[in-house]
Amino acid sequence: MCGIVGYIGNRDAFPIVLKGLKRLEYRGYDSAGIALINDDRLSVFKKQGKVDALEEFTIGKNLSGNIGIGHTRWATHGEPSDRNAHPHYTNSKKFAIIHNGIIENYAQIKAELISKGYVFHSDTDTEVLGNFIEDIYTNLPNKSVEEAIRFALKRIVGAYCILVVHEDEPEVIYAARKGSPLVIGIGKGEHFLASDATPIIEYTREVVYVNDYEMAIVRKDELILKNLGNERQEPYITKLDMQLGAIEKGGYDHFMIKEILEQPSTIFDCLRGRLETQNPSIQLSGIDKYKEQFLTGQRIIILACGTSWHAGLVAEYIIEELCRIPVEVEYASEFRYRNPVVHSGDIIVAISQSGETADTIVAIDQAKKNGAIIMGVVNAVGSTIARLSDTGVYTHSGPEIGVASTKAFTGQVTVLILVALKVALEKGTITKERFNQLCIELAGVPDKVQEIFVQNDHINKIAQKYSHLKDALYLGRGYNFPIALEGALKLKEISYIHAEGYPAAEMKHGPIALVDESLLSVFIATKDPYYEKIISNIQEIKARKGMVLAIVSKGDTMISGIADDIIEIPEIDELIAPILNVIPLQLLSYYIGVAKGFDVDKPRNLAKSVTVE
Ligand code: F6R
Repeated sequence: MCGIVGYIGNRDAFPIVLKGLKRLEYRGYDSAGIALINDDRLSVFKKQGKVDALEEFTIGKNLSGNIGIGHTRWATHGEPSDRNAHPHYTNSKKFAIIHNGIIENYAQIKAELISKGYVFHSDTDTEVLGNFIEDIYTNLPNKSVEEAIRFALKRIVGAYCILVVHEDEPEVIYAARKGSPLVIGIGKGEHFLASDATPIIEYTREVVYVNDYEMAIVRKDELILKNLGNERQEPYITKLDMQLGAIEKGGYDHFMIKEILEQPSTIFDCLRGRLETQNPSIQLSGIDKYKEQFLTGQRIIILACGTSWHAGLVAEYIIEELCRIPVEVEYASEFRYRNPVVHSGDIIVAISQSGETADTIVAIDQAKKNGAIIMGVVNAVGSTIARLSDTGVYTHSGPEIGVASTKAFTGQVTVLILVALKVALEKGTITKERFNQLCIELAGVPDKVQEIFVQNDHINKIAQKYSHLKDALYLGRGYNFPIALEGALKLKEISYIHAEGYPAAEMKHGPIALVDESLLSVFIATKDPYYEKIISNIQEIKARKGMVLAIVSKGDTMISGIADDIIEIPEIDELIAPILNVIPLQLLSYYIGVAKGFDVDKPRNLAKSVTVE
């Protein structure tokens, strides 16, 4: 949450920082701001709203300067407003600070500063940290900004990525992180700083991922990394492997639809080099590394949040079915705060698109301390979770910019099916014949996803019909229960329609009380062993005059005679079907969101990367 950008070099900083903020806007869009140092003078421009509002606000202003820091905010402390927008000046107006994270002991520090006469102009924890640094700086005999920041950070409890500039040091950006991401791009006589690599790739491919408890002192032609003990650290330079086109809309109206339609190729990329269909086999070096543990492990714990948690639930069904290993799927946010039983050698699968979700990071950190082996299923290469993991399998879905996750989810489920198949074969809990059949079916998924898109106009018409809805139920059984949860989450996020996912059989234990002619029930009712039972559930809704939209297997005649609307899915093995079945639900929520005129790429109150707990 919150996007951070910085530039120092010979070019004008403003356009680079502004463009970077637009690329990072998916991380938060409550307000945006930029600080520039020009002719040894520090100026701050900030505005409530999206980055476009900031751009408009700065028209006609003097925006020159070769050093700049910028921020796009997802509000934590203080409502979205101009005064709570970052950057924050300190009382002397000599420092400007931007921050992604939460300072938990800010109230105590604020009280101390107020007693010393400091005045606050915002409700943020960030302004407190800025003034705390200033206070230490003022009292340091050597007037070292670097030292003041270091001292301040040692007292801070919480998570942060900060960039700090000082008017009297117009040739330096100070940066530091703990728990919130920071990447530094290395150019020729210039450096770029950002929360992730997307603002950087058009300038340089060489980056350094800053680690927790590290501080960077960044000049245009020098990058110094230190730990908080003031010891120099060797910057580890990584080469970025990301195409600019992947982070641009490329002619589509929204990132969300671009990313939904990309799924045939992102799923293909996820399978490429891993799945062999001639003589079916699966290569996953991330599993080979801990093969023994996977074969003898007594259980697997899956940790994730949101949509990634839904992918974990799909995996629970599949791994238990194929590998006969008990699986527990936990919300990382709950796991971290209870006292979970984790044994040395337990396998933890951490699923995360961004690789930066604070709850997941802390949860796996705790499990690691108990001796668990962490396998990351991560999309963002080089992210914190990817680096914290002992082993992993990247989803290779490419940058996901739309705030609601789509292609990352199908990438996660695809990877987890590969993992389950590989472990099952090695363990001998699947026959070679069934393994071969599933491998061949999995290889056919990209084409089958493409086939679903033929119905896009049809799905759009259904979306128009139901766009006025107030409530919806999403119902599925077995592998499709998590898809019901995911479909409901997508609808909530994108169209602000209240929706709940349930196992279809649970409906009669409570939610059926909601059913009347104004309630839509979306059934995931493709052919599987529960097919007959789900038809009965549909009948139960129809008997109470509820509306039914059903996702059915191609050529289904039974359900089309009962449901109000149907969307057809190509025939596929029930174990792989969740990858296909989620696609029309993504499209449905997209089209409803668009029909209602909402900003589907940036739904209200959300942010892509939840780096606060
Ligand atoms: C929903 C969505 C979120 C994320 C969740 C975890 O569309 O995107 O629910 O899935 O915040 O994020 P990651 O996967 O980055 O850990």
